[in-house]
Amino acid sequence: MRIVPEIAAEGEELVAWRRHLHEHPELAYEEVETARFVAEKLRAFGLDEVHEGLARTGVVGVIRGRGPGPAIGLRADMDALPIEERTNKPWASKIPGKMHACGHDGHTTMLLAAARHLARTRAFAGTVYVIFQPAEELYGGAAKMIEEGLFERFPMERVFGLHNWPDLPAGEFAMRAGPAMAAADRFTIRLEGLGCHGAMPHQGRDPVLAAAALVAALQMLVAREVDPIDSAVVSVTRIVAGETYNVIPDRAELWGTVRSFRSETRERLRRRLHEVAEGIAAAHRMTVSVSYERGYPTLVNSAEEVSLSAAVAAELVGPAKVHTDHPPCTGAEDFAFMLEKKPGSYIWLGQGGGAEGRVCHSPFYDFNDEVLVLGASYWVRLVEHVLPSDRQRG
Ligand code: NI
Repeated sequence: MRIVPEIAAEGEELVAWRRHLHEHPELAYEEVETARFVAEKLRAFGLDEVHEGLARTGVVGVIRGRGPGPAIGLRADMDALPIEERTNKPWASKIPGKMHACGHDGHTTMLLAAARHLARTRAFAGTVYVIFQPAEELYGGAAKMIEEGLFERFPMERVFGLHNWPDLPAGEFAMRAGPAMAAADRFTIRLEGLGCHGAMPHQGRDPVLAAAALVAALQMLVAREVDPIDSAVVSVTRIVAGETYNVIPDRAELWGTVRSFRSETRERLRRRLHEVAEGIAAAHRMTVSVSYERGYPTLVNSAEEVSLSAAVAAELVGPAKVHTDHPPCTGAEDFAFMLEKKPGSYIWLGQGGGAEGRVCHSPFYDFNDEVLVLGASYWVRLVEHVLPSDRQRG
């Protein structure tokens, strides 16, 4: 076990930070107090530089090692979700309707703890950028940081990310080279027919029936147009139409999400979704409009960086607890934008609780404080491994 002993000795303090953040969740681009908490700590730890305000609330800390060498970025996310917490924990959210239900409070804490240790020991050659990004959930804070010059202001060769994983036992690691999380697009389809009396449907053109036919037809895209060995998801997640029992409305609206891993599949689904919507609409004599927004891209890990992460994780918990061919996940993650620009790895840290329903984005979710020291140690050992100083090389 190569848990960092100094970090283990500070375990209680890390729990206190994590619970403080948990009590005070802030949504995307509103992470003002969280960013202040992070920046104050980084300054107190003696980092070489602390930069605030990148992508509104993002924070980047700079830690220089003992000698010259390459630069790498370690990234944590800070935002919470619009969920009413139901854990009844003493440290439950104090803000109505907002909750750290994805463990970004834990991610922030682990990277802070690692930054403190790295600034204290500097047992590496090169530069470490600790990146605390806003708005991972839905609003692409990573993309905004890149747009605002993250990689120009802080040139780095590689980037690394980590997310807690309730479906994996606490203390295990999982990862995979190549596509690991899905591209996530969204669509809105508006159907317009002709409203009429519910008892005399032949006098109108019914958008409710057309919407129902369209929901079923869209599943054809996955069932019959995607290679069965590839994966994709099309989900209609919202349908709005009508007001009462005896009126056929004149319009219906469908919302949904499309997930895919390969760019050809993504493009084909986008094109065919339009065609199917137009075809079904024509059959039902509807006018139709489709708006389709591309969201987060597929998260693609590079093989070399995944093997670096695996080696470090194996030193921490033993190779039996490191799963290097974990199946991809159809969730999306905006660290994918950083991995489009730089080689790197995004790995999952097991924290348990999934079997009991304490999954990410559930009102019963809570980050497992037991893995704080392990996650922070992973960051430290990764830096020492990727940026070895002469003393370590010898
Ligand atoms: Ni998350």
